[in-house]
Amino acid sequence: MCGIVGYVGPKKAEPILINGLLRLEYRGYDSAGIATMEKTGIKNVKNKGRVNDLLSMKEIESLEGTLGIAHTRWATHGKPSSINSHPHMDNSNSFAVVHNGIIENYAELKKELEDKGYKFLSETDTEVIPNYIHYFYKNSTETGETKFLSAVNKTCKLLKGSFALEILCNDFPNSMIVVRKDSPLVIGTSETENYVSSDIPAILSFTKNFYLLNDLEFAYLTRDAVTFYDNNLNKIEKSVTSIEWSAAAAEKDGYADFMLKEIYEQPRSIRETIGSHIVTNGTCQFDGLNLSKEYLKSINKIFIIACGTAMHAGLASKTVLEQICEISTEVDVASEFRYRTPLVNDKTLCIFISQSGETADTIAALKLAKQKGAKTIAISNVIGSSITREADYTVYTHAGPEIAVASTKAYTAQIMLLDILALYFAEILGINLDKVELMKKELLEIPAKTEKCLALANEVKEFANKVYKEKDIFFLGRGLDYSSSLEASLKLKEISYIHSDAYAAGELKHGPIALIENGITVVGLLTVPHLVEKTVSNLQEVISRGAKTLIVTNQDLGDKDFDKVIRIPEASEYVSPLLSIIPMQLFAYFISKEKGLDVDKPRNLAKSVTVE
Ligand code: AGP
Ligand code: GLU
Repeated sequence: MCGIVGYVGPKKAEPILINGLLRLEYRGYDSAGIATMEKTGIKNVKNKGRVNDLLSMKEIESLEGTLGIAHTRWATHGKPSSINSHPHMDNSNSFAVVHNGIIENYAELKKELEDKGYKFLSETDTEVIPNYIHYFYKNSTETGETKFLSAVNKTCKLLKGSFALEILCNDFPNSMIVVRKDSPLVIGTSETENYVSSDIPAILSFTKNFYLLNDLEFAYLTRDAVTFYDNNLNKIEKSVTSIEWSAAAAEKDGYADFMLKEIYEQPRSIRETIGSHIVTNGTCQFDGLNLSKEYLKSINKIFIIACGTAMHAGLASKTVLEQICEISTEVDVASEFRYRTPLVNDKTLCIFISQSGETADTIAALKLAKQKGAKTIAISNVIGSSITREADYTVYTHAGPEIAVASTKAYTAQIMLLDILALYFAEILGINLDKVELMKKELLEIPAKTEKCLALANEVKEFANKVYKEKDIFFLGRGLDYSSSLEASLKLKEISYIHSDAYAAGELKHGPIALIENGITVVGLLTVPHLVEKTVSNLQEVISRGAKTLIVTNQDLGDKDFDKVIRIPEASEYVSPLLSIIPMQLFAYFISKEKGLDVDKPRNLAKSVTVE
């Protein structure tokens, strides 16, 4: 969850490392630390708290080295404290290690090391790593950098779990080794300096050229070279990936918060997602997705698997896939799917959605589906992310970097992409072509309609300011409005800390209505024409029990007792989820702001959930 940064080059490392850590702050963390190679050897400065707290420590000023590693910690083993913060060092203070992830078998490794005489200072799982590296190094007959590399390699072979590691060694004052398994890590490169980071935007202002490491590939970095090795320490070649995003795209662009900026970027991100997959002559196109008509005819189920908001994008597209492609579609939460022995085989197509591409549960679910013989497609927003390297096929959303923890523009880009994918499958299958053409026309109109939804911000804000002190807010909808309600409710609870639930409106009478009391706020989503009347009746039931109501609709509802009606542009039921969510994102945003909360970095949450 946390962040890792590294630098080797001609410049002083400390300011570069701190800059990188600040850019990774959005990932969530509780402690920060940095180690640089000084003339006297490795110097390690760390503490619990924010990066700015680290910066205010006196020792930071004395760091002059041009090689360094840095870390923000999201504690998994041991409370946030100075001693548990990274970097961790071995007993002889020869090696410094920062680690992102979890070492599942650390207790066993710790016991082995204790039996060999090693002492442990922290409660972390990480501390076994520098000590085991020291153990292998000390007992090695090898020489030079091979000795360093092989001590790291032998240690990694013992580790169970996930790790992204940066390692410094006093005997090699100009080098750093990095390796990853199931945790993110990229290497930014230029002729005279090299960088390491948990993600691309954090170092995009320094370089646009990156190496992407696969699981258990080792990189040996000096200021002018990066050498790669496989898990048997055979040298391997890697090519550079150039990133087109500008560093400014990862900044706030004058908006008060990243979340607001990202909400307002939706017309563009949706347009770009359409532009990449609906070509000028109107046909759908997915380069590299070689799924034949025979294959699509042979499958009897599509599974969409993801977590959180990405899973809600799956729900919003399920109906389209079922009705346009005529293939039964199931949506599942990755953490459930991976442990419930799902019925998946070579007749199942599994689609995995992950903005970050690093979500541990989604990656594990993907590996399981592959083992069971299913074909797998990854939908991700991050080029070269772990999920894209595991899947048979990858399709990218074109949302650009999403920094706010609460996902907004990635969600609408995911729905758009899945909808176009459904049309593409139908075109290959040669079915429902008239519906395909109608829907394509509708999708092309979405960016302009999204702009109209954004123009409703003031109306939404007015209602948000009336209810921001509430303790509970409920969302109701039927059909596709129910899936949008789930996402609206998640957005609200994530950033406002207001308790919120979404219910299928028809379920109200089966229990939830017991929660409705005088003054409570209920938000109704009504965009599915044939279900509107029924949801209106459910809303009348809550109004008669004293609820305040906010309605988002594209229908004329006549004269009703609603407190506020937000009228969004008309669209068919299939594409309405792309529009109705926008006032809901703004609703969550304005409530959070009115409460004075940190919109971009809500408590307890991290952007990239790389642990189970
Ligand atoms: C979104 O607002 C949430 N922070 C969270 O539910 C997120 O969608 C989920 O963790 C999945 O992330 P991913 O898309 O990067 O896999
Ligand atoms: N498991 C390690 C710890 O608790 C690293 C956690 C992280 O990824 O920050 O210290």
